[in-house]
Amino acid sequence: MRYMGLLQTYKSYLPVTDKTPMLTLQEGNTPLIHAENLSNELDLDIYFKYEGLNPTGSFKDRGMVMAVAKAMEEGSRTIMCASTGNTSAAAAAYAARGGLNCIVLIPNNNIALGKLAQAIIYGAKVIAIEGNFDRALEIVREITAKHPITLVNSVNPFRIEGQKTAAFEVVEQLGKAPDYLAIPVGNAGNITAYWKGFKEFHAAGKSASLPKMIGFEAEGSAAIVRGEPIPNPETVATAIRIGNPATWQGAVAAAKDSGGQINYVTDEQILHAYKTIAAREGIFAEPASAASIAGVMKLKQEGYFEKGQSVVCVLTGHGLKDPNIAIKSVNGDPMVVKDSEEAVMDAIQKLEN
Ligand code: F0G
Repeated sequence: MRYMGLLQTYKSYLPVTDKTPMLTLQEGNTPLIHAENLSNELDLDIYFKYEGLNPTGSFKDRGMVMAVAKAMEEGSRTIMCASTGNTSAAAAAYAARGGLNCIVLIPNNNIALGKLAQAIIYGAKVIAIEGNFDRALEIVREITAKHPITLVNSVNPFRIEGQKTAAFEVVEQLGKAPDYLAIPVGNAGNITAYWKGFKEFHAAGKSASLPKMIGFEAEGSAAIVRGEPIPNPETVATAIRIGNPATWQGAVAAAKDSGGQINYVTDEQILHAYKTIAAREGIFAEPASAASIAGVMKLKQEGYFEKGQSVVCVLTGHGLKDPNIAIKSVNGDPMVVKDSEEAVMDAIQKLEN
């Protein structure tokens, strides 16, 4: 049967009514890929929930399809969000599909090239502020409170509803809940959504157990770990460069109630994990996504896991979103040689050394 998208597939678990338009770009239904090499190396059973294969290349499509469908149902004409890039790409795409206007506010010079390209080509009004994501979200909240514009950041509860479907898929694909769910934490909507999804599927009798939720912030923006907002968050993983997570309490509750934890990883650990999953598993995810696997590597070293336990790492966005980081992180400019067989053979030999 043809896949009909998230609203259709999980209708009975979502706030879908007779009046909700069945908007879809065929989001969701992303693969759960077994990490053969890393599992062997770390003595764990590791899987990647590869959310980069959503229509706009990130998990945001799950929440955005629900939020935009509800905005349409309510007769809204315009949606707006603040974004480190992926939310704006998803908002712009679903607004285009649904015939709505879209306004996005981004931190100037701090979003990845691919994400900016997406928002522009889908036809959103893109405004870059001289300020960070946290400030952009404050401004969006102020504007949408005063004007007939629908806010589609993850403080919109429909976003969380859509995003919880990823947990449903993990349970269906694995045949059970994993022992651990490892996930990057930025604004903290996604960890909150996964935890809600796991609990709902458990309550519906679809899984016998619940996973421990382990969330990872970037060290330079680890507000939750430090226990206070960070005015000037910094990290190479621009997607999670957030100093005052809007769903802070949701993340804390997910970790506490599941018996997991919120921890942090350094930029170095993020880039190491980022390169490792590409070079060892053939999977290209953006730096923020690699925070999940970096976190698992860190906790493994600290003796946190038992041998053979199952860990699903959420890879939140596609690596092609941020090509500049890929090239920079491996000194990746290709060797340029003459167009002859000899020159190419020479180059191959040099590269082997
Ligand atoms: N990974 C990626 C690739 C993201 O884009 C984000 C968030 C996260 C992880 C963290 O998810 O915020 O739910 O904890 N990006 C938002 C955006 C902030 O604007 O695209 P979270």
